[in-house]
Amino acid sequence: MLDLRRQYEGIREEVLAAVTRVCDSQSYILGPEVEALEREISTLTGASAAVGCASGTEALWLALVAVGVKPGDSVITTPFSFFASASSIVRAGAKPIFVDIDPDTLNLDAELVMRELSQRTHQETVRAILPVHLYGQCADMDALARISTDFGIAIVEDAAQAIGAKWNGGGAGSLGITAAFSFYPTKNLSAYGDAGIVTTTDLELAEHMRRLRNHGSPQRYYHDEFGWNGRIDAIQAAVLRVKLPHISDWNQQRRQHAATYDRLLAQAGLISPISANSTSPVRALARSPQATHVFHQYVIRADRRDELRKFLAERKIGSEIYYPLPLHLQNVFAYLGLKAGDLPVAEQAAKEVLALPMFPELTEDEIRLVVEGIAGFYS
Ligand SMILES: Cc1ncc(COP(=O)(O)O)c(C=O)c1O
Repeated sequence: MLDLRRQYEGIREEVLAAVTRVCDSQSYILGPEVEALEREISTLTGASAAVGCASGTEALWLALVAVGVKPGDSVITTPFSFFASASSIVRAGAKPIFVDIDPDTLNLDAELVMRELSQRTHQETVRAILPVHLYGQCADMDALARISTDFGIAIVEDAAQAIGAKWNGGGAGSLGITAAFSFYPTKNLSAYGDAGIVTTTDLELAEHMRRLRNHGSPQRYYHDEFGWNGRIDAIQAAVLRVKLPHISDWNQQRRQHAATYDRLLAQAGLISPISANSTSPVRALARSPQATHVFHQYVIRADRRDELRKFLAERKIGSEIYYPLPLHLQNVFAYLGLKAGDLPVAEQAAKEVLALPMFPELTEDEIRLVVEGIAGFYS
């Protein structure tokens, strides 16, 4: 599914030199490496500022609190994402409102967000919309930006899977007022441990998030509000700075692999484009023309998905299910009162999605092997 060793082999000397540089400096938390990373990520994303923090989850919390989400508020998000997209809302004291996804891209359905907001009861308390750029493709930011303007509601991008992704040429991380990125080791740009960053187009918000990640403290041992320790280590920042100059090439290689999957699956007669009455056992997800996809994952929808996954595993071909249970059906969200059938598009996707091996150093032969495995299953 993912072989990080291949990447490490190419950058080993530089990484070890960067770690040594931090050890020699004896400056381990925040400091010049983190500040340099923050500048470099602002430039990459097109945001005005970036604030390094402990994880993508922490980044989401910082972003939500900074835009003013507080107890009693609600935040609209997708039920088809990693848990942190919703748990961060709860940690900010608010209630998630799950809105179903677009059946073609599996991103938050802007039309349904609009419908949800048009119900007056929600409009009064919804403080933010949190779209997730799922699998590395931006959600419909044209429609969401219009909604944000019309209703005066902030957009917090969950860009954890989307470093380097674009929408109409604008970088993920600069499309809303603030955005969260994860540098978890499996991400397109990954640390050697937990780390994250939050970007923003508002310098005052950046300053607020800098305080929040450091115990809400404008000055050491003086506290005006409750934050806590959400800081990033200098060693993680140094490792990320070694990798950052490669991210554009690595994302391009992912796009090439996606094109190879598309071609080989089509040649094998396995895949059909999105179509309600498709008879093909494997279906592609839609690619928005406005989006520059970074293929954090290459995901298909497959008939008899769980059997296919087992068949591939027996042939030592990795695959993953992102995500097997939508968030509104998780036990921990039972208090919201949603039940099976309430968000049918997400529920159906959870039964069908399968992520295939995807990382920059993957070879065409390996992709061929995966496609042959899938063909073998359906033949
Ligand atoms: C969509 C999404 N949001 C949030 C996160 C949380 O990031 P982290 O694991 O760095 O806390 C992740 C990754 O794990 C993610 O994929």
